[in-house]
Amino acid sequence: MGYSDPPFAILPAAYEDIDTLLDIYFHAFAADGVYPYLYPGLSREEKIAFEASGPKRVFKEQPWAKLWKVVEGKSEKIVAWARWHSPRPLTAEEREQVGDPDLFDQTIPEGSNMPLCEDLFAKLEWAEHTFVDREHGLFLNYLVVHPDYQGRGLSKLLLNVGLEEADRIGASCFVVSTVAGEGVYRKVGFKEIDRFVVDTRPWGGEEVPWFCMRREPRSAEKVKRDERLSN
Ligand SMILES: CC(C)(COP(=O)(O)OP(=O)(O)OC[C@H]1O[C@@H](n2cnc3c(N)ncnc32)[C@H](O)[C@@H]1OP(=O)(O)O)[C@@H](O)C(=O)NCCC(=O)NCCS
Repeated sequence: MGYSDPPFAILPAAYEDIDTLLDIYFHAFAADGVYPYLYPGLSREEKIAFEASGPKRVFKEQPWAKLWKVVEGKSEKIVAWARWHSPRPLTAEEREQVGDPDLFDQTIPEGSNMPLCEDLFAKLEWAEHTFVDREHGLFLNYLVVHPDYQGRGLSKLLLNVGLEEADRIGASCFVVSTVAGEGVYRKVGFKEIDRFVVDTRPWGGEEVPWFCMRREPRSAEKVKRDERLSN
């Protein structure tokens, strides 16, 4: 699929990749304002097992949610990944369902920072319930680049998969962004439509904003015009 220089390839990720993806996730979120406070009493393996359980279930049960990985050409080492949810018809029962399926039926493990986990998960669920249009829009639920590989354009490879689909079918895209992601999303046309704050001050952190962002599709004329300009 897409390659950049030095050679990176973007490929569909497999179920067997998911633990590795979550390991990269914890590396990438080590500098985040909230994640380092979420699981103070859990080992790295326990954190990965908990955070991987949702994506594993989604991988098996929700074929419209596609995991993509970026691998380094020669070694095929995974260095970045994302998950895009494409629009799909909903059943009446599903229309009643709220929030992110990743967060359903999961008991937060002992050793986690319960009040902070509950606060963050409830706010994410609210944002997704309020703004994700599962029937007509795309939803970007993860975008993660290993810190050693950030700043090299890899997020754009992963973003383009969904943005190109969105423009092709005339659909909007939604993401709940961290502080690190906000500028990256803005560059590709997302705009802030709401925000919430997660307060980590009781544990030595700060008030951390999260951005609810939407991108409207580019018209076919605009896609053509931008392609002409970039050639
Ligand atoms: C956010 C993240 C995915 C960006 O990945 P990346 O591969 O380093 O980003 P890229 O190198 O592809 O940068 C894409 C563009 O955004 C720009 N950019 C990057 N960070 C930016 C920022 N904070 N503000 C404004 N622009 C920024 C880059 O300059 C680049 O611009 P260009 O198209 O003109 O070259 C990565 O930093 C990450 O994994 N962070 C931790 C996890 C996280 O917060 N993910 C977002 C979850 S919503």
